[in-house]
Amino acid sequence: MQKYIPVVVIKEMAETDKILTALKKSDILCAEITFRTACAAEAISYAVKNYPEMEIGAGTVINAEQCEAALAAGATFIVSPGFSPAVAKICVERNIPYYPGCVTPTEIMAALEFGITTVKFFPANVYGGLKALKALSAPFPQIKFIPTGGVDRSNIDEFLAFDKVAAIGGSFFVKEALEKMEEN
Ligand code: 3PG
Repeated sequence: MQKYIPVVVIKEMAETDKILTALKKSDILCAEITFRTACAAEAISYAVKNYPEMEIGAGTVINAEQCEAALAAGATFIVSPGFSPAVAKICVERNIPYYPGCVTPTEIMAALEFGITTVKFFPANVYGGLKALKALSAPFPQIKFIPTGGVDRSNIDEFLAFDKVAAIGGSFFVKEALEKMEEN
């Protein structure tokens, strides 16, 4: 998996090229396209076809229907803000990486029952940040985290320095990449 997972919201299809080009120019070859907009599945399908060098996943997937739509569009990983057993079942059956949002021991145990060992930690800043990750790692040494939500340049390095952090998610990657592209 990629180390940086930009959380992408595509409001209109016309924005897709600009955002993905900006990410590529910033050497970020990954995009989590979120099911927060009506064109999410279409954008995933377009991205998969036109940016084969990038890892294109689906985010904010909160039910089986969205998961099916994301996989049909070609998403290669699925992210949820919370834990969905229905989404987990589909992903495990099809061998697709699923990163559910898990911030409590109970949620982590639910993920483990599906054999999931990498979880999104969201919103990272609200649920205790690095301190919470370290505390959760004691009973769950097999778990890797993807802190997301409130992560930015001011705290990314401290998360990355912890060996249980598999990757970082955030919308700030998109913002930064667009700003950088506009400057040049
Ligand atoms: C997400 O769904 O992962 C969040 O909206 C990302 O949070 P951020 O905007 O604080 O990075």
